[in-house]
Amino acid sequence: MSHPKQLLLDEYEALASQIAYHERLYRDGVPEIPDAAFDDLVDRYQQLADELEIPPEQRIDQTPGVDHTDGFVQVEHRSPMLSLEKISPYRRDGKGDSLPSLGQFLSWYDRRQKDLGIHRHEQLPLLVEPKIDGISVSLLYVRGQLQRAVTRGDGKKGDDITRQVKSARAVPERLDGVRGSLEVRGELYWPLDAFSAHNQKLILFGEKPLANPRNGCAGLMKRKDPEGLHHAGIRSFLYQIPWSEDLPLPTSQFEVLQWLKHCGAPVYLDEIFLAHHPHDAFHYCEQYAERRPHLPYEIDGMVIKLDRLDLYSRLEGTGHHPHWAIAYKFPPERKPTLLKGITVQVGKSGKLTPVAELEPVLVAGTTVSRASLHNFPELERKDVRVGDTVFIEKAGEIIPQVVSVDLDKRPINTESYARPTACPACGADVVSEDIFIYCPNPSCPHQVRERLRHFASRGAMDIEGLGAALVEQVIDKLGVVSPDDVFRMKEADLAGLERMGKKSAANLMKSLQIAKDRGLARVLVGLSIRHLGTTMAEDLANHFESVDALLDFAQRYRQGDPQAIEQVAPEKGSGVIEGMARKTADSIFAELASPSVRGVIEGLRQVGVLLEAKRQLSDAVVGVVGKSFVLTGSLPTLKRDEASALIKAAGGIVGTSVSKKTDYVVVGQDAGSKLDKAQKLGINLLDEAGLLALLRK
Ligand code: IVH
Repeated sequence: MSHPKQLLLDEYEALASQIAYHERLYRDGVPEIPDAAFDDLVDRYQQLADELEIPPEQRIDQTPGVDHTDGFVQVEHRSPMLSLEKISPYRRDGKGDSLPSLGQFLSWYDRRQKDLGIHRHEQLPLLVEPKIDGISVSLLYVRGQLQRAVTRGDGKKGDDITRQVKSARAVPERLDGVRGSLEVRGELYWPLDAFSAHNQKLILFGEKPLANPRNGCAGLMKRKDPEGLHHAGIRSFLYQIPWSEDLPLPTSQFEVLQWLKHCGAPVYLDEIFLAHHPHDAFHYCEQYAERRPHLPYEIDGMVIKLDRLDLYSRLEGTGHHPHWAIAYKFPPERKPTLLKGITVQVGKSGKLTPVAELEPVLVAGTTVSRASLHNFPELERKDVRVGDTVFIEKAGEIIPQVVSVDLDKRPINTESYARPTACPACGADVVSEDIFIYCPNPSCPHQVRERLRHFASRGAMDIEGLGAALVEQVIDKLGVVSPDDVFRMKEADLAGLERMGKKSAANLMKSLQIAKDRGLARVLVGLSIRHLGTTMAEDLANHFESVDALLDFAQRYRQGDPQAIEQVAPEKGSGVIEGMARKTADSIFAELASPSVRGVIEGLRQVGVLLEAKRQLSDAVVGVVGKSFVLTGSLPTLKRDEASALIKAAGGIVGTSVSKKTDYVVVGQDAGSKLDKAQKLGINLLDEAGLLALLRK
């Protein structure tokens, strides 16, 4: 087993790259996972970052800010629009069927009693409301007339979406009988029936349906031409009046909602509950979970609020959330479906993983037809059998999982699953290690394919244009087997492949040239060595500086040189590589010293791949690593090559032309067509100050 801290670090890093990946998809308007699943990833990331004591400046920036769209006027909020603290069902291993625990909630309630200096036996009335999964909006009514609608944005300032909201007829244009001015906050959302009708239309016109109502709603509200938006059927739920003038307002949340209703605003009085005891509030949330599948809109939880508004100013919140409310999050959606078969996948280092082949089912917004069964002992523990009805869930995990079997629905004549004894791809006898089963044949065609995919992937050599489908083709048609072969491919051969052509082939040749220079750490990551993740690869590269020094060391370690062992895996304390335990070291150095890895490294050397450490890890900035930047115009203080050098030192990539794949465009004076293109594509723009802030300079 690896060192526990290393396991956490590996998970932390994997999460950071998953979050970056999903953020990118979200920004491109093609999310793969529901927002709740994304939130879960971020929650787990924050938890690990705390546990590992990662300094704040090295964490990925989670301040909401991605919401600003070019072309929209930004408006400052009178008071910040914050998030809510959450109590969540926490179930990483798929075991048990939990809702948030009462204990979590009562400890929040206790803290509030203490903050307010209220005796334990004196109860605070609580109002429970559904937490609609939409986008928050701030509405300004002047003399009862809707004046302005603004998105949450980064919490301090948001985008002016007045035209869109008015055209969508999503909120009242007038509040009946109101003469004063006020700000009302609430949620814009897309009711499920209107959303499906819209998707049906898209399908009919041969277009791709939208992934989920929340993102769909956000997209409509950012439409530059809002004409005719009312056909979409966007609705709202208004729940807060943070500011008012010349208005006698009620003093409890319950009465505020009644007052809003009286003025003609959409509030769901039937859906809320005024509790006089915390247990009752909590119980209402639990019961409401059962109504969730039957509601006409999506909710991701409940909000429990102190009902007495006079207490709010006495509670100091954090910059992230107030202390007068808490969100009760529902567990991820779970659906039953038929297990049609169990297939076995072979991973890059030979690990065999069972995968459930399912009757397609809609779970949390996307159709699922395959799900992970994790490993064989887990499959056996759950006794999952072909023909069973199984429950599928998409929690914080991106890959949907089989959580349990519905034994009542098990048909007769099913059989327990028998573990494979031979690799399904190459037929080699499998070997067992810990709880896993491996194919020991390094030339197994599935292993070769997975290793090449991994080698070309973003976290490793980042060979742009060499995606999964092309890898398959270069193996089958060009006889590529080893990572170094990738750099020997000929442009003319590439141009002849399916869906390629001269231009793509030429681009791929360029990407290959660029990839050669990524440095030792990325090469090490790309070699698919078991237990060797990004952090450890960087530590090894920084410590040994060149591949020769590293291979030399591996050889000595392998031969049992006590000095070498003492250096990385001493009996007591930690060696020169943080978090590397003896067993991990044994495994990593054995692979590094093996003839096959040495052979690949020699091959990479011959084709001119840089095998030396490139930069110090300490310069890398999380959030910049792997991101692509384009510079345009002249910056006030930095010269262009200075800016490039800073970006590269932080782990970013500097490109010359703007495309959908560009993450940031840095804009200076007299910026030209690159700026226009970036605006058209909705790419994040930075000025020099923004760049320096991102680089934490
Ligand atoms: S009260 C400090 N009440 O949930 C924010 N929020 O995760 C206080 N939301 O930004 C918000 N339904 O967009 C409140 N009944 C409700 C809500 C609700 C949905 C959203 C809102 C907020 C987010 C916080």
